[in-house]
Amino acid sequence: MKADLEGFIEEALLEVSNASDLKRLQDLKVRYLGKKGELTQLLKTLGSLPETERPAAGKRINDAKVQIDTAIQKAADRLKEVEKIQTIESRRIDVTLPGFFVPPGHQHPINTILEEICDIFASLGFRIEEGPEVEDDYHNFEALNIPKEHPARDMQDTFYVEGGLVLRTHTSPVQIRVMERQPPPIRIIAPGKVYRCDSDQTHTPMFHQVEGLLVDRRVSMAELKGTLEAFVHAMFGPEIPIRLRPSFFPFTEPSAEIDMGCVICRGKGCSACKRTGWIEILGAGMVNPRVFEFCGYDPGEFSGFAFGLGVERVAMLKYGIDDLRLFFENDVRFLEQF
Ligand code: FA5
Repeated sequence: MKADLEGFIEEALLEVSNASDLKRLQDLKVRYLGKKGELTQLLKTLGSLPETERPAAGKRINDAKVQIDTAIQKAADRLKEVEKIQTIESRRIDVTLPGFFVPPGHQHPINTILEEICDIFASLGFRIEEGPEVEDDYHNFEALNIPKEHPARDMQDTFYVEGGLVLRTHTSPVQIRVMERQPPPIRIIAPGKVYRCDSDQTHTPMFHQVEGLLVDRRVSMAELKGTLEAFVHAMFGPEIPIRLRPSFFPFTEPSAEIDMGCVICRGKGCSACKRTGWIEILGAGMVNPRVFEFCGYDPGEFSGFAFGLGVERVAMLKYGIDDLRLFFENDVRFLEQF
């Protein structure tokens, strides 16, 4: 047995010293010292030896266990140290190499303009409200006095979704949701994304609008004009005039398109304003009494105005951009100019 054991220890120690990683060492530990390991099996054979030889043989096996265990422990310490050094080496930074320039990102110009618009209306006392981008037909059309099959629906070519839903075509449905929720007075703006089946140089399928709604007793068109004039002056400068042009929206009566003096030619007439000196900036009007009835307000008691402006249109005028699609192509050479 003695010779056998010596050979066994020698082989085990060789395997341990050859182990190249911690996983292999763990396997060797199980193989030699584990519950079902080879030395444990050897201990079980002691019973077959003559009684006088058993203590010495038992001691030899236990000594062998300690010897192999110590060798495994030392090898593990050594391998851990090697791993540590390799990790440090692999993360070493050569501080003498030139650095890489990571260009800093910044806010998208449409968001910058959107924030500016919201700040101006907030300073006039308007609270921000939001609504769903996937709307039901009732809020997007019906309650805004645009009945099913009515030709007024053709004004906004729509993306329909299953289940009678639509991608909202304007932010006006937020008006309805706010009025359903609370009694007057109301003074809100609703910024957000809207969608239409539209695509050319000045129209994209997704764009942003800011809706405004003010409802109280004795609200008149003069307040509408004063509010929008204050907005245009804050956004484009106090020298820019506005004018109200009669128009039609089913949810306002009377309705108007608001034009502002052309910021490019300062009213003299250029190609951007089609030589008129005026540029259309938003739609507005006095809330149609029919809309108040849908929301349970008494049109005899309350009046109000609403407006809706296209954020991209404001951005195009502010930055002098003639193609709206540039904002969404995400060409950084264009975006980094802002
Ligand atoms: C409306 O959407 C009305 N809801 C606005 C309104 C609200 C009127 C409250 C009265 C009271 P209109 O379809 O004209 O109106 O759109 C408003 C603005 O959105 C336009 O002046 C234009 O600047 C912008 N717009 C419309 N379609 C697009 C498009 N496809 N891409 C970019 N901007 C667009």
